[in-house]
Amino acid sequence: MASLAPAGQGGLRAADIQTDRGNPHWTRYPGDRALDAIPGEDGWPLVGTTFMQLADPDRFARTMLAQYGPVYRTRSFGQRGVELVGPDANELVLFDRERLFSNEQGWGPLLNLLFPRGLMLMDHEAHRIDRRALQVAFKPEPMKAYCDLLNRDIAAATQAWGAGADRFGLRMYDAIKALTLQTAATSFLGIPLGPEADRLNHAFTAMVQAAVTPIRRPLPFTAMGRGVAGRRMLVDWFTRLLAERRARPGQDMFSQFALATRDDGSLLPADVVVDHMIFLLMAAHDTITSSFTTLIWQLAQNPDWQDRLRSEALATAGAAGRAVAYADLARMELTELAFKEALRIMPPVPAMPRRALRDFSFKGHHIPAGTNVGINPALVHADPALWPEPDRFDPLRFTPDKVAARHKYAWVPFGGGAHMCLGLHFATMQTRILAHHVLTRYQITAAPGYRPRWQAWPIPRPRDGLQLELRRIC
Ligand code: HEM
Repeated sequence: MASLAPAGQGGLRAADIQTDRGNPHWTRYPGDRALDAIPGEDGWPLVGTTFMQLADPDRFARTMLAQYGPVYRTRSFGQRGVELVGPDANELVLFDRERLFSNEQGWGPLLNLLFPRGLMLMDHEAHRIDRRALQVAFKPEPMKAYCDLLNRDIAAATQAWGAGADRFGLRMYDAIKALTLQTAATSFLGIPLGPEADRLNHAFTAMVQAAVTPIRRPLPFTAMGRGVAGRRMLVDWFTRLLAERRARPGQDMFSQFALATRDDGSLLPADVVVDHMIFLLMAAHDTITSSFTTLIWQLAQNPDWQDRLRSEALATAGAAGRAVAYADLARMELTELAFKEALRIMPPVPAMPRRALRDFSFKGHHIPAGTNVGINPALVHADPALWPEPDRFDPLRFTPDKVAARHKYAWVPFGGGAHMCLGLHFATMQTRILAHHVLTRYQITAAPGYRPRWQAWPIPRPRDGLQLELRRIC
């Protein structure tokens, strides 16, 4: 497989990095006519259905599903594509038994310029080798070290909320986002909080914002221009830090990546470690922020569940503010169920794009090689046939007997198959630690009638930051 040059290097023009032209090894788009037989819409001239999809993805998808059924055609970013909806579709695409789909060619057009060669953008054997190498960072010993760092940082930050006031208002999403950036500096990178961590966070935030900007060329004064500059800074910085971490490894995730080896015992090359680390920061950051915010919003509306989780947290750690030991995390079972329910209601990764490498058929429709294929976790998570009263927050949907009775791919917030989220256990751990420190310190309520509006894309977030009322209880 031809490898992609990082943004602005290797003779490939930045503007081509995300296109078929810049990637001759990609399976060619079969042309609009090849998809004529799939029911669906082409939208408006030139822009197709792009803006309808971006403006309200959930409403657009529900309308299309109602009108055309679980296999429908759209037209976005200049090409037709096919959406497959339902648990069978999730299984076909995510489990990908027959290696029909490419992640690189699905995600590449969106992410290649800023996050090239991240694990999620790799395919098949090359992906397997690097995934195996990186798994070392999620073994129990390093996880225990991250757990200690997370406890320390989250305890200090949540204690400082409201500057000692007994009651105060807090934009929960903004507070969790800031906290997640801080914890990433210490547990992912092993650097202390301070001006250096702030500079890195600034560069990283510019990259994340650029990932979904409609202007895809890195022109000066555009979000993409700032994103590409942010990437350049991070690449330089990580490359320097790598030598240091290889000489004197710490307890952070970057040290684990720095020393990760492939099957043949060789260290991952420096530029590969750097690309994986930059991608991982992106994969971890907004997803944790989004899902924990959803959990807290649900708990603000369901005080009985808030009390149950608080009692569980106190019983697990012994007292408010005390660290939750790594060995005790598994005892926070209700927190786990509630987190799963939050992920069902608002899955942080609303789309998982792929490109078909070969022709295939699904539910009687022929789909040719080169077609852009998508699945829709949020629609499946809200299907009343799978989830009775889907709008109700009910963590008990995830008791083992209920899980066993459901389609295995009815719940896919972490994806599935070979690309199943590598940080799943890290995310679950961080959420439990967050839940412990937030809920044992504060009673959380929302003003009567308050209904925040959520921005669905690219990663769900409340538009106003989620304004909640906190009362200090310890
Ligand atoms: C609640 C939080 C999270 C959610 C919902 C989530 C969701 C996902 C999903 C859906 C995928 C697969 C995408 C696809 O197949 O196209 C994925 C992949 C990935 N995630 Fe997560 N993620 C979360 C947190 C994290 C964290 C904390 C980390 C790292 C510490 C992480 C690292 C990764 C990596 C490296 C991949 C690529 C795996 C591969 O392609 O082999 N994620 N994540």
